Amino acid sequence: NSIEKGSFTWSSPSNIALVKYWGKKENQIPANPSISFTLNNCKTTTTLSFSKKENSNEFSFEIFLDDEKKDDFKPKIETFFKRIEAYLPFLKDYHFKIETSNTFPHSSGIASSASGMSAMALCLMSIEKALKPEITDEYFTQKASFLARLGSGSACRSLEGDMVVWGKHNEIEASSDLFGVKYPFKVHRNFKNYNDTILLVDKGEKQVSSTIGHNLMHNHPFAIERFKQAQNNLSILIDTFKTGDLKTFIEIVESEALTLHAMMMTSMPYFILMKPNTLEIINKIWMFRKATNSNICFTLDAGANVHVLYPENETETVLEFIKNELVAYCQNGHYICDQIGFGAKLI
Ligand code: PMV
Repeated sequence: NSIEKGSFTWSSPSNIALVKYWGKKENQIPANPSISFTLNNCKTTTTLSFSKKENSNEFSFEIFLDDEKKDDFKPKIETFFKRIEAYLPFLKDYHFKIETSNTFPHSSGIASSASGMSAMALCLMSIEKALKPEITDEYFTQKASFLARLGSGSACRSLEGDMVVWGKHNEIEASSDLFGVKYPFKVHRNFKNYNDTILLVDKGEKQVSSTIGHNLMHNHPFAIERFKQAQNNLSILIDTFKTGDLKTFIEIVESEALTLHAMMMTSMPYFILMKPNTLEIINKIWMFRKATNSNICFTLDAGANVHVLYPENETETVLEFIKNELVAYCQNGHYICDQIGFGAKLI
């Protein structure tokens, strides 16, 4: 290859799973399919600068977060590079400078792995495309998602919007265990511009890394049923997106969140990742829904923070409710307003 140096910048969002990915096989292959809303405001912007180096014996890179050198991120990137080396033969030919920043605070309990790894994968694909201009857009996105998956599974769902499916499902022909695909069917207008307000209940470090969490699904007493249930829940959501049935959507999404946590409570060792305020918020949401017929619902990641999901036409009333009744349960009153977005952008 003949390019001496250059740089690419991509901005890539986070995503929130509706049907959760929890449990994997070798090589980041998911045990069940998952689907997520791509977010809009929570994102990572990464500039990858590259310059040819003398020898091609080893990886060479430096990382900056918000202009500050971050050597503690190095092992993660080293592991990522090792995993993807076979698919990007130029990796050892260049020295890389990785400059990254997030729109959300680093210690907010919001994982930056999905947005960070997808932004990184896209920058690397831009180099591959510069070396091989014949690459098509479709191949570009697919391979970037494939590479992002090897960084962090859920990252492969962050490249496109507004919904992405990852993992083989019999009703979605293009679906794959190897990369995320844009949700291929028509989506009812009830789901357009759906909101996700993220309540930061606990901004601390994750109690259980997702790597450990996924591994807990090996030999888990309920694993087989859980993986079947996820398949089935995705089938139900496909119908729901067609008809616009918000009641069923709420049922599936909340059940998925609680099942994710139930899996962690029933693994060995076991963990409770919710905090008292997580439960307070869930109860308040249920009371508000009962009292007002709102279509508000919640989902959770592998942590204590609550994602509050609601349709666009309820923005005003739900935000009012959040400010009056839920913000009190957030650490330092901190929350982030987001909504469905449309994926990564080259800058
Ligand atoms: O991408 P990972 O390995 O960090 O796993 C993410 C798992 C959940 O966020 C809990 C669920 C999901 O599907 O995003």
